Amino acid sequence: MHWMVRWAGGFPVFAADAEGARLRDVDGHEYVDFCLGDTGAMTGHSPEPAVRAVAEQARRGITLMLPSEDALWVGEELSRRFRLPFWQFALTATDANRFAIRLARAVTGRPKILVFNWCYHGTVDETFATLLDGRVREREGNVGPPVDPAETTRVVEFNDVEALERELARGDVACVLAEPALTNIGIVLPQPGYHDALREATRSTGALLIVDETHTICAGPGGYTRAYGLEPDLLTIGKPIASGIPAAAYGFSQDVADRVRDAIPDDEADVGGIGGTLAANVLSLAATRATLADVLTDEAFERMIALGERFEAGVQRVIDDHALPWHVVRLGCRVEYLFRPEPARTGAEAAAGGDAELDRFIHLYALNRGILLTPFHNMALMSPATTEADVDRHTEVFDEAARELVSA
Ligand SMILES: Cc1ncc(COP(=O)(O)O)c(C=O)c1O
Repeated sequence: MHWMVRWAGGFPVFAADAEGARLRDVDGHEYVDFCLGDTGAMTGHSPEPAVRAVAEQARRGITLMLPSEDALWVGEELSRRFRLPFWQFALTATDANRFAIRLARAVTGRPKILVFNWCYHGTVDETFATLLDGRVREREGNVGPPVDPAETTRVVEFNDVEALERELARGDVACVLAEPALTNIGIVLPQPGYHDALREATRSTGALLIVDETHTICAGPGGYTRAYGLEPDLLTIGKPIASGIPAAAYGFSQDVADRVRDAIPDDEADVGGIGGTLAANVLSLAATRATLADVLTDEAFERMIALGERFEAGVQRVIDDHALPWHVVRLGCRVEYLFRPEPARTGAEAAAGGDAELDRFIHLYALNRGILLTPFHNMALMSPATTEADVDRHTEVFDEAARELVSA
């Protein structure tokens, strides 16, 4: 992977095994894991209920290409959590996003999508677009794009209502694909009223709203959507929902379901551009059911969010003690610090607060003291297996790092 060649220290940690919030490398070092597979293992590594379900299901069939009763249970549970009545499954959040975008184009008959500057939604061609001097450009480092993303995509800054309304008014946007808070360029939280404006602007211009909860599930059992009462037309989620077994889902409203039925004749339903042979395989669904029933529960989120608060308070204390021009942001059980004094309001502001050298220093300093942060973020995620002692160890190491930096 391209990011491994940029790893602080010259080569990535090679993993031997992991359990709960702990990871061991092939040299026998143990780490407190705040990366947690970049959210894929937000459940903690190999949680017992998921391991049991996978072992039992593996003996009874792995992939059948047929619906199973677990699919019904999971669909109902996702409906309860996110308040959307219809669900389909995919294997990755990338695919869930691709399929949701395709459905949006199919039912609106419009060609473009709109995303926020510095968003990330997986390897979805349309999303590798950025704003440069007010124009849509290809995101640097995009490998082999099929067409210039300016042809497929409109881009606005997060929290910029005026730009959003202006771009949607052009009438060619099938959907807005939105993380409810940006999480892939630091954490950028929405300003008060932003989500109301987004919903209003999408509704009044006929664009569908897809909310990508793949990372923002950290806000609670029903993600940001449930915690803050959002009303998306479609919602996508992947990564941790099956404890790291490949699984993803995309849900949609009754209105979208009706329009999909009208737009896609039954005889052509097998052609399409959505789905996949292994999608909704029974192993993934068994793992998803166990994860939602017994791992990422309401009670688990209460504990995880309290740990997130403790982590945030520890980092803030260190920033204050050393008078560093940095800040820390938290969304539920996800915390990130960034090297600029104020929280960013847009992706561009957050990107400007990055510092590659400081990043590498902190990551390597932490790694050498038994702490794994998420590569290329100063991001930490709390799992049900994370402890207060784990959090306090990070605060201690972060404090030592700050002390050395300030005295250097
Ligand atoms: C918000 C968001 N959506 C989708 C994805 C894609 O997930 P995956 O790589 O598992 O397909 C990511 C990956 O980081 C993400 O952060």
